[in-house]
Amino acid sequence: MKKILVTGCAGFIGSHLVDRLLANNHKVIGVDNFNDYYDPKIKKKNLESALRLKSFKLYRGDILDFSLLTKIFKSERLEKVIHLAARAGVRPSIESPLLYGKVNVGGTVNLLKMSVDFKVNQFIFCSSSSVYGESKRLPFTEDDPCENIISPYGSSKRAAEFWVESFFHSYGLKSVILRFFTVYGPRGRPDMAPALFAKAILSGKTINQFGDGFSSRDYTYIDDIIDGIVRACYKNFDFEIINLGNNHPVKLSVFVKTLEKIIGKKAKINKLPTQHGDVEKTWANIVKAKKLLDWAPKTKIDEGLEHYLEWLKK
Ligand SMILES: NC(=O)c1ccc[n+]([C@@H]2O[C@H](COP(=O)([O-])OP(=O)(O)OC[C@H]3O[C@@H](n4cnc5c(N)ncnc54)[C@H](O)[C@@H]3O)[C@@H](O)[C@H]2O)c1
Repeated sequence: MKKILVTGCAGFIGSHLVDRLLANNHKVIGVDNFNDYYDPKIKKKNLESALRLKSFKLYRGDILDFSLLTKIFKSERLEKVIHLAARAGVRPSIESPLLYGKVNVGGTVNLLKMSVDFKVNQFIFCSSSSVYGESKRLPFTEDDPCENIISPYGSSKRAAEFWVESFFHSYGLKSVILRFFTVYGPRGRPDMAPALFAKAILSGKTINQFGDGFSSRDYTYIDDIIDGIVRACYKNFDFEIINLGNNHPVKLSVFVKTLEKIIGKKAKINKLPTQHGDVEKTWANIVKAKKLLDWAPKTKIDEGLEHYLEWLKK
């Protein structure tokens, strides 16, 4: 029974991970500052079931607060750290680059330092397909040089990856970097396309569609992502970077049509120019995930969106 720290535990992915780790009989320590990037009430609700269990302990606070982190690491004797806390979202990162640098890079460095000082066995860093930016090598493969990053969010994640790698080389901190591709599903972030589009169609409101509808995303269902994180957590790699994506990019126009079919209503679309920071396509090469984690996504987009819509309507 491993004791695991999950940072960003109240968020979309973090709260699902906490639930799965608790179901697998782990002791889970969570830290989250419940910031107002989106309604903190949603985050409180995400943790409702976890908070009923004795095997879960929540620390409300900031990963930039070094004394709080010292208190957590000193009192909890952690075996693994799964680091999800971050400022997410590409477009807002263009408005607040300093905040993204501070939290996503500075916060990660704090946690790395703590993990070394308190002899954590393994550090799992949750990164993003945004590090591939506008790379022309498709599908995106882990050995890509990532030289075409086009958003502060992508840069902050790549910079944090470098720190993780350097801590492995300098201090022997065993680490895995997982690069997620557009995650969707129940509890999905309200600022992301699946939530914005589904809510607009359900309520008959107009959708702002940026670009011509030809851009595509490798939408990956939350349960598949959680399965990948847990598999990585049960291995003990020295240092690896692994993509977790669906390996089936879906064009925005097809994505909207799929939602229309499930909801049974036509979308009202307002076409706008492509936004800065948005890449044309994301597509994960998942050969490495298959080989190292025996992982493959199980959920097709229409199936995943149906589960999501069921949850959203509730
Ligand atoms: N959702 C996706 O499609 C996606 C894709 C790629 C990577 N990721 C990464 O996965 C992780 C989780 O993403 P998510 O979609 O669940 O986002 P989320 O915003 O729902 O969750 C992040 C959580 O971190 C917390 N947090 C933020 N700053 C903090 C700080 N300074 N101190 C303590 N807690 C803080 C937030 O309150 C939030 O609950 C992030 O690192 C994100 O970059 C997500």
